[in-house]
Amino acid sequence: MRVAVTGARGRLGHAIVQALEDAPFSGPAGPTAWARDAFDLDTPDLIATRLDRDRPEVVVHAAAWTDVDGCALDPGLAMQRNALATGVLATACAGRGIDLLVVSTNEVFDGTRADGPPYESTAPRSPANPYGASKAEGERLAELAFAARPGAALGIARTAWLFGRPGHDYPSRILDAAVRARQVGEPLRLVDDEWGTPTYIADVADAVVELLAEDAVAGVHHLINAGLTSRAGWARDALERGGLEVDTVDVPSSTWERPSRPPRWGVLAPTPLPSREPMRSWQAAMADYAPSLLRALGGRV
Ligand SMILES: NC(=O)c1ccc[n+]([C@@H]2O[C@H](COP(=O)([O-])OP(=O)(O)OC[C@H]3O[C@@H](n4cnc5c(N)ncnc54)[C@H](OP(=O)(O)O)[C@@H]3O)[C@@H](O)[C@H]2O)c1
Repeated sequence: MRVAVTGARGRLGHAIVQALEDAPFSGPAGPTAWARDAFDLDTPDLIATRLDRDRPEVVVHAAAWTDVDGCALDPGLAMQRNALATGVLATACAGRGIDLLVVSTNEVFDGTRADGPPYESTAPRSPANPYGASKAEGERLAELAFAARPGAALGIARTAWLFGRPGHDYPSRILDAAVRARQVGEPLRLVDDEWGTPTYIADVADAVVELLAEDAVAGVHHLINAGLTSRAGWARDALERGGLEVDTVDVPSSTWERPSRPPRWGVLAPTPLPSREPMRSWQAAMADYAPSLLRALGGRV
């Protein structure tokens, strides 16, 4: 099966390419890694030529403008990159009978529900910030494109709170902040009213490979590790794994001034994979990631 991956130099895109390289169904040539020079979200019309040249049977669309605060400051550009470009890609794929898996986010939901249950894959989209709105519109445009040209399969794979190599993620930022807080003798402030599921990039990549291998791309998938926690809970897990002792204080997210307001309750209900094996707990995934996380921290602990 010829698979192309957009955003192939991004954190998730790169992990998906790596996982596909080990998948027998990718064939000897392996996956086609499309970085920005192959599919630029600012010039999406060029994708038609690229599709005709590389002739993938499936495209995994992991490229996106993921700077949520940047999106809040320029919602028009967010729509262009995350919604319209996805729509152009989907139209080009549907017209050629190419399956498409669009990577999306828990931020398509506003996170205002306070009654406890997670968001099911069937729940109506209700984005609360420009990043979420642009991703939700990307989903909608992809659905319209495939409804207009039935034949190939469209999948939407939502995930959340990604962590993993090469870092630059929430656990790395927390450990860096803890080192700084200890140096200046101040408590580390942790947000305790934002909830979600930390999810390991490598596990999402494996889940995507499973969907492709089992010809189960179609539909809306929630690919997240098992369990849930608050930002503060996740931070404490990382601090413990790092053996970093620092005073902490819980604060509401409203104490942080930022252009984008993340969902308070960003919890997705996981969808079953073809194997029916649930994804492992986020803590088990953090345990796997910890050695690389701590190496990146170097001798600063
Ligand atoms: N990070 C999370 O916690 C999270 C949570 C839920 C869903 N997601 C979704 O997961 C997917 C991958 O996210 P990630 O965390 O791997 O993000 P990332 O590391 O920022 O990767 C995004 C990729 O998109 C590419 N890109 C950005 N702007 C582009 C443009 N104008 N034209 C072409 N390519 C462009 C980047 O290219 P360069 O390498 O050239 O910059 C990069 O390869 C996205 O769809 C995101 O919405 C992420």
